[in-house]
Amino acid sequence: MEHKKLKSFPDNFLWGSASAAYQVEGAWDLDGKGISVWDKFVRIPGKTFENTTGDTAVDHYHRYKEDVALMAEQGLAAYRFSIAWSRIFPEGNGAINQAGLQFYDNLIDELIKYNIEPVVTLYHWDIPQALQDAYGGWESRRVVDDFAHYAVTVFKHFGNRVKYWVTLNEQNVFIGHGYKTALHPPGVADDKRMYQANHHANLANAAAIAAFRTLGMNGKIGPSFAYGPNYSVNADPKNVLAAENAEEFGAHFWLDVYTYGEYPALVWNWLEAQGLAPETHPQDTELLKQGKPDFIGVNYYRTMTNAFNPADGVGIQAMNTNGQKDSAKYSGEPGVYKHVRNEFLEKTNWDWDIDPTGLRIGLRRIASRYRLPVMITENGLGEYDTLTDTGEVNDDYRITYLHQHALAVQQAITDGVDVIGYCTWSFTDLLSWLNGYQKRYGFVYIDRDEQNEKSLTRYKKKSFYWYKDLIASKGATLSGK
Ligand code: BG6
Repeated sequence: MEHKKLKSFPDNFLWGSASAAYQVEGAWDLDGKGISVWDKFVRIPGKTFENTTGDTAVDHYHRYKEDVALMAEQGLAAYRFSIAWSRIFPEGNGAINQAGLQFYDNLIDELIKYNIEPVVTLYHWDIPQALQDAYGGWESRRVVDDFAHYAVTVFKHFGNRVKYWVTLNEQNVFIGHGYKTALHPPGVADDKRMYQANHHANLANAAAIAAFRTLGMNGKIGPSFAYGPNYSVNADPKNVLAAENAEEFGAHFWLDVYTYGEYPALVWNWLEAQGLAPETHPQDTELLKQGKPDFIGVNYYRTMTNAFNPADGVGIQAMNTNGQKDSAKYSGEPGVYKHVRNEFLEKTNWDWDIDPTGLRIGLRRIASRYRLPVMITENGLGEYDTLTDTGEVNDDYRITYLHQHALAVQQAITDGVDVIGYCTWSFTDLLSWLNGYQKRYGFVYIDRDEQNEKSLTRYKKKSFYWYKDLIASKGATLSGK
């Protein structure tokens, strides 16, 4: 639908930006922090682009005051960051590391000093290695209690200042890459184990939300989901069916559990037939139903286009982690769907389709099926940036991308979707897990690369000023009205 006039963004709209502990903090073994699975994984040669690590990352741990001052200068209303579980509980459970709490106390206080709303993610992929060693991390039910205990600890400690919480960041990604493609720790490729680990993550998510309710926390909580809405490549019904399969397996399989406490029957039926359904306990459904979130966090980067895939068809194929356009191959799930090229869309140098309308479509689908508010917890463009001799980064491509996506959000709001915030990915440049430091997302350029930490100096990109103006206008500059 084409609206004659777009609705204004709400006055309390959370114009934000985001990051994650491992990608920005550094200080991987300082001040009592324990080792996470990523601290170990990146040390295995060949796992990351040019063997990059987050050992120093962009040194946010030591430079958070400078970074928060830049956020304040930009006018950010919200900053989404994650707590490193192993900074609080170096062994995953047991003794608390006070220095870990202190770091986040300092960061939160600094944000509040400038009226920036902290949006705190409990888990952005960095489970303590001690729990991986003790019982296999997400593959054991024991993780549910340990995660809930960690969640309760931070709710109680920071809850007087933090009103927005994200439970798990992209469960679909950390489980998929951890246990199917083996690209993330623990580097397993086994569907049966994947679905079991995923079930425990569902329970952990619900247990944290249930504890939030029991404690009577004053705030809102929800998971962040990596949502890539699925299209059919054309109107051939067998391709349309494949696209519906992709939406069931790629979205409803998680979002239904979060919202309704139940797996979608269609996927569950398929998993049972394949012998892949996870082992469940009779009381699981009751717990899952206590996990209904206040909002759904959406991390949006791209849509996926699908076609029929026979039972002996394509499976997992190579991703592009080197920034050489057209080096990615399209993956699929045999007998279910396969991803294919969308000829209507441009791609980034990392072969991600650029599709602002897809964001509007995704928001509408969520509103329609789940009837919950949405917080866009990530959206951004990973690209090469060039720092000029005069210290400028003219990232017009990023401005175009963000402008079009933010406008799609405004259109979705006008359609009737309850969107409570928009966090770009990311505030500063940071470590892109598998892609090193050359795939940049930030408003603030960081002087470092894969080989050399260099000066780590911060430079404001052109997009920094664009977002500053957008926030100051409360979004009015988007449609020119
Ligand atoms: C999301 C993650 O998957 O996308 C972020 O939550 C990540 O942590 C971002 O950095 C972009 O992905 P990538 O692979 O380009 O870094």
